[in-house]
Amino acid sequence: MIETIQWTDSGVVMIDQTRLPREEVYVTCTDHLEVAEAIRSMVIRGAPAIGVAAAMGIALGMQRADSVSQFDEICEAIRSTRPTAVNLFWAIQRMRSVFDELGGRELPEIRERLVSEAIQIRLEDIAINQCIGKNGAALIPDGKTVLTHCNAGALATAGYGTALGVIRAAIASGKKIDVFADETRPFLQGARLTIWELQHDRIPATLITDNMAGHFLHSGRIGCVVVGADRIAANGDVANKIGTYSVAVLAKENNVPFYVAAPISTLDLSLASRQQIPIEQRAAAEVTHFHGVAVAPEGTEVANPAFDVTPNRYVTAIITERGVARAPYSETLPKLIG
Ligand code: MRU
Repeated sequence: MIETIQWTDSGVVMIDQTRLPREEVYVTCTDHLEVAEAIRSMVIRGAPAIGVAAAMGIALGMQRADSVSQFDEICEAIRSTRPTAVNLFWAIQRMRSVFDELGGRELPEIRERLVSEAIQIRLEDIAINQCIGKNGAALIPDGKTVLTHCNAGALATAGYGTALGVIRAAIASGKKIDVFADETRPFLQGARLTIWELQHDRIPATLITDNMAGHFLHSGRIGCVVVGADRIAANGDVANKIGTYSVAVLAKENNVPFYVAAPISTLDLSLASRQQIPIEQRAAAEVTHFHGVAVAPEGTEVANPAFDVTPNRYVTAIITERGVARAPYSETLPKLIG
């Protein structure tokens, strides 16, 4: 299995996703500020992986802290990294609940409990993804191609993946499928990470540029689309990597089912709909440059929203570890949460 993130005695070890696929390099973060920077710079990325990193960052911060009063400032450093993936805030809240329960206890006990909680979040995430895979496998048409966007795989989680977990589980159940991966401009998660990960597992994968998706969705070859999510509002609107919305519209136009695979921790039922989902804006250089080489004139005005929101009417189903939800999502999602 690909190890995305691990807790070790020397710190939080992550595979550096900015350097894949050219180099397989691991970085060790030795304090919470390094973890925060790893999240911000996308050394680690993908909503569930960001959640695990946040939890481990807080645990690490408290290992280095000399007073319990530093907890809030450590959480704040982690919180201010990336705004869209709700798993970040979910993980901070979960760590805070443990911290609050231990009110009045000595620092060594607090440290130990926070470390075990962060390790537990990582383990749970892998198990959750395997459940998502099992729940979604039946939806994947046999003998067809699955189109995916961005990377919602082992690299975007603690392991196994959400969208790629569904694909892995479908293959494990005996289905003969292959994968088309959108390259996912501008950060190229599809080209760099999804293809690397699928090759690692010997899953047949073909890389296409983002603007080829319509052509292949129209061709009849694609049996379904499966993507991950960064935040899902109460009505089933789905925030995911920029370009997901276009794929969803093209899928509907061509009668191809569009599935979203995500853990319950990606649901944000406190937000009624897409208008309230914060969208991260990233640096212009991600658009104007390609591996450090400028592809646009100097001084070019750039828009670089990292995510878009797919309205619920394009979403055929949402696959979670607790089951599969279909419209009307404002009724089915709360039932899944229970
Ligand atoms: O900017 P990124 O690479 O963190 O965006 C990742 C995505 O959009 C993923 O599809 C999403 O987080 C789900 S990962 C299981």
